[in-house]
Amino acid sequence: MMENNENQQNNPQNNQQPNYTILTNGQGHPVSDNQNIKTVGARGPGTLENYTFIEKITHFDRERIPERVVHARGAGAHGVFEAYGKVGDEPISKYTRAKLFQEPGKQTPVFVRLSTVVHGGASAETLRDPRGFAVKFYTEDGNWDLVGNNLKIFFIRDPMKFPDMIHAFKPDPVTNVQDMERFFDFISLSPEATHMITFLFSPWGIPANYRQMQGSGVNTYKWVDQNGDSVLVKYHWEPLKQGIKNLLQKEATQIQAVNLNHATEDLYQAIARGDFPEWELNVQIMSDDEHPELDFDPLDPTKLWPKDKFPWLPVGKMTLNRNPVDYFTEVEQAAFGSGVLVDGLDFSDDKLLQGRTLSYSDTQRYRVGPNYLQIPINSPKKHVATNQHGGRMRYRPDRPVDINPHVNYEPSSLGGLQEAPKEGADHQPLYNARLVREAIPRRNDFGQAGDTYREFAEWEKEELISNLVDALKNCKADIVQRMISYFTQADPDYGRRVAEGLAKVNPTAGDQLTDPTVVKAEQMGHSTCGY
Ligand code: HEM
Repeated sequence: MMENNENQQNNPQNNQQPNYTILTNGQGHPVSDNQNIKTVGARGPGTLENYTFIEKITHFDRERIPERVVHARGAGAHGVFEAYGKVGDEPISKYTRAKLFQEPGKQTPVFVRLSTVVHGGASAETLRDPRGFAVKFYTEDGNWDLVGNNLKIFFIRDPMKFPDMIHAFKPDPVTNVQDMERFFDFISLSPEATHMITFLFSPWGIPANYRQMQGSGVNTYKWVDQNGDSVLVKYHWEPLKQGIKNLLQKEATQIQAVNLNHATEDLYQAIARGDFPEWELNVQIMSDDEHPELDFDPLDPTKLWPKDKFPWLPVGKMTLNRNPVDYFTEVEQAAFGSGVLVDGLDFSDDKLLQGRTLSYSDTQRYRVGPNYLQIPINSPKKHVATNQHGGRMRYRPDRPVDINPHVNYEPSSLGGLQEAPKEGADHQPLYNARLVREAIPRRNDFGQAGDTYREFAEWEKEELISNLVDALKNCKADIVQRMISYFTQADPDYGRRVAEGLAKVNPTAGDQLTDPTVVKAEQMGHSTCGY
């Protein structure tokens, strides 16, 4: 049992409740007997007018909301982000006018949810899976959500493929068990995933806990200055004093044998004992153009921006210092979205980013409800003034009291809400291209996967090969063959070692596997690499 959170009294949500300890029902009626339903005689049938019992049992029947379709299992905490007021050695206003970054020492409250991705709300936290790293900044200009993962790249670059990818990763629709053959069936027909698979099956695929992992925005965003000029940016969270720690598969298996909740417990207990985890926020900056000199597209989320060319520049520090008082109201109902940006921050044309942005608020209107932004954890900590009206579970208008309450529209001459003044020049990118359905031309699906493989220490390579062999050993030969061809195109040593490992555990497939003939991806409707 976890210790009670000593910060409970400080939570503003508690101040809304008078501190009475007398039990009532939801209507405020005192409940003097919470042990017995009302019946006709002590042994008799129950009655339908039993309001308190019926309210209690029917509310219980509705305790669950649909779990997140991905990232269902997570832990959350409150904290603060403190700006450095500069980016590297330069004034940050040179690149962005976002207010939260401008002054050194400026503090912005945050709420963070850290999660696993594929499995359900009660699954083990030791599974090989990316980890979600979602941060809600309650800024003076409204909320900014930086919805990232621990790994810095993603499996795919086009949002059209996301539902298929998740179906392949989640349990089989017949057996309800995750199946590596389905997983690698999809991956082996998605060569752009080779880089992500290289990270995921290495020790980086199982962070030791939520505190000791990195975070990344993954997608390419933009920063916009006072003149409306933009640069491309990527965001990265680096753990400070707690450091980075990953697990070998055997360590994860040992923990999983005795504890399915180790990461949630670790985060909660660290915060409860005052050992507050801290991360530094770094950005990488590129001029806002196509960068033909690079062998990858800056808008491709399957790629890293090399640190030597695009250094990490620190812009601030985040500390998590307060546990939630109630998991459901704060963590389960928290709603983050990649479309939630503030003035001075913008989207890039990264297609994955554009596709995912619709998905978040859409699912949240279904998962939490159309008025999910009125729930305290999602509500901005500044004034909200909209003409939105009605919808299930709306419990207040968004219009301030000094506004004519009859006017829920704009424009109006009768005292309604007014448009806000502009903060700076609009960013107005110019487009002149045909509307097409085409992949980006510069895909280079295997180059960085090879670089990453070569950068791994020998023990990391061994762990990667062993994990891949274990996952691929029961897959059909053509799936295995395609995967080996991808690993070989990334680095011949990589492909050879996976093939040899598989030949050892599955000698019957040895003839096919020890000679990893490169399957040309064009044969499967994809081009392999290069321009
Ligand atoms: C959660 C969709 C890509 C990180 C979700 C949810 C959806 C979704 C529907 C559930 C949200 C909720 O119920 O509140 C998509 C789509 C993607 C995509 C359609 C691509 C086309 C990504 C990428 C990242 C990411 C690239 C990492 C950069 C997360 C995180 C959460 C999440 C961290 C959990 C947020 C939380 O803690 O509540 N995603 N996603 N997703 N996604 Fe994505």
